[in-house]
Amino acid sequence: MLQKRLYIKTYGCQANVYDSGRMADILKPLGYELTETPEHADLVILNTCHIREKAEEKVYSDLGRIRPYKDDKMILAVAGCMGQAEGAEIMRRAPYVDIVLGPQTYHRLPEMIARAHRSQDKEKGPGRGVLDVEFPVESKFDHLPENHTHVGPSAFLAIQEGCDKFCTFCVVPYTRGAEYSRPARAIMEEATRLCERGAKEITLVGQNVNAYHGESPAGQEWGLGKLMEYLASLKGLERLRYMTSHPRDMDEELMEAHRDVPQVMPFLHLPVQSGSDRILEAMNRKHTAKHYLDCIEKLRTYRPDIALSSDFIVGFPGETEEDFKKTLSLVQEVGYSQSYSFKYSPRPGTPGALMDDQVPDDIKAERLGRLQDLLNTQHLSFHEKSVGKTVPVLLDRQGKQDGQILGKTPHFQSVYVETTPELFGTCVDVIIEKASANSLTGTIVS
Ligand code: 5AD
Ligand code: SF4
Repeated sequence: MLQKRLYIKTYGCQANVYDSGRMADILKPLGYELTETPEHADLVILNTCHIREKAEEKVYSDLGRIRPYKDDKMILAVAGCMGQAEGAEIMRRAPYVDIVLGPQTYHRLPEMIARAHRSQDKEKGPGRGVLDVEFPVESKFDHLPENHTHVGPSAFLAIQEGCDKFCTFCVVPYTRGAEYSRPARAIMEEATRLCERGAKEITLVGQNVNAYHGESPAGQEWGLGKLMEYLASLKGLERLRYMTSHPRDMDEELMEAHRDVPQVMPFLHLPVQSGSDRILEAMNRKHTAKHYLDCIEKLRTYRPDIALSSDFIVGFPGETEEDFKKTLSLVQEVGYSQSYSFKYSPRPGTPGALMDDQVPDDIKAERLGRLQDLLNTQHLSFHEKSVGKTVPVLLDRQGKQDGQILGKTPHFQSVYVETTPELFGTCVDVIIEKASANSLTGTIVS
């Protein structure tokens, strides 16, 4: 078979990282091998994100950069949430794009490529106009091969897709569609294959992963807690994580899994977005600050060493200085080991974008600065507590410098170590020597 070169660039969340892997899997039998640069690729896929305006502008500028390499042979595809939300707009602004597809139709990629080739023969226009942004009745999960050609020590596994929460700032319910949970047996089969191919850690991913309510092998409905208990029986699986979660879906069984299932790591990314009940209500988050703090307290009784992370939005419409101060005091109360914080970005088609009293950009920037100063101090002091300790580190990424490998502690801290390539993919004991706000440095002791 003729060898063809495939370049995929992934933007945004872990669900996209997972989806990019599966697209590579489905294209492999057609002769596509992954390559590192777009220059001489036969197929270029940009797997995009629509969450904030910045992510979107980046895609248009990357498209402009790829354009000079685009010849008659190259097929250029825009996949992901931006494809879903703005298919026609992409074809208008970048008419040399051949295929636009949404996240639900990756299993139809081979067919779309064939269509693009056929229309090329006929018209030789700048782009070949293949648009597929349906929400098909069949699930993409049932139609994608699970050959996982690129499995590292730490792998992502999508167990859930979509979101029914409709937070008023968020495009996800529109781009990823309604919530869908995969059956536990299919997840177990995929997890087994990942472990057979060298994965030691699996992160279960989904837009609203703890809303998981899939079918158990005996035909009942299972939540995420039960699913993780089931997966923990898998030989070779040392670590389990999940993201991203919603505070409303932190049920008792899931919290107990943090106490009872040793493979579930002592780390949780649980976005709160704001500490003000008034803003949480306007965001349609369907919970109060107290509910969030109660969850954290319970998790800490079950797993005292649990490290916490969150997403924050500042400058949501109507946010006053007083509301913002409530976010700062919630942060003080919880104490985060890491976090992501953003200025509110009004997204077309979401209720937030139409709300009165949008906050001016300079106020958003000023609040973001204050919030990030506080968060960075917390991150640093969390990491500093590791200095002098010996911690198990799963070496899962190559560093930029020779001899440098990166790994993760159970608390999801990145650790740099100097070592030899044979240790890649193993879990080693590391004594931590240095801490910064984002990472640790240490030496292997065993
Ligand atoms: N503006 C800013 N941040 C947003 N997020 C989602 N939508 C927006 C938006 N319109 C953030 C939220 C979410 C994370 C993935 O991105 O904090 O948890
Ligand atoms: Fe977006 Fe809210 Fe759903 Fe998260 S829970 S994906 S923020 S709508």
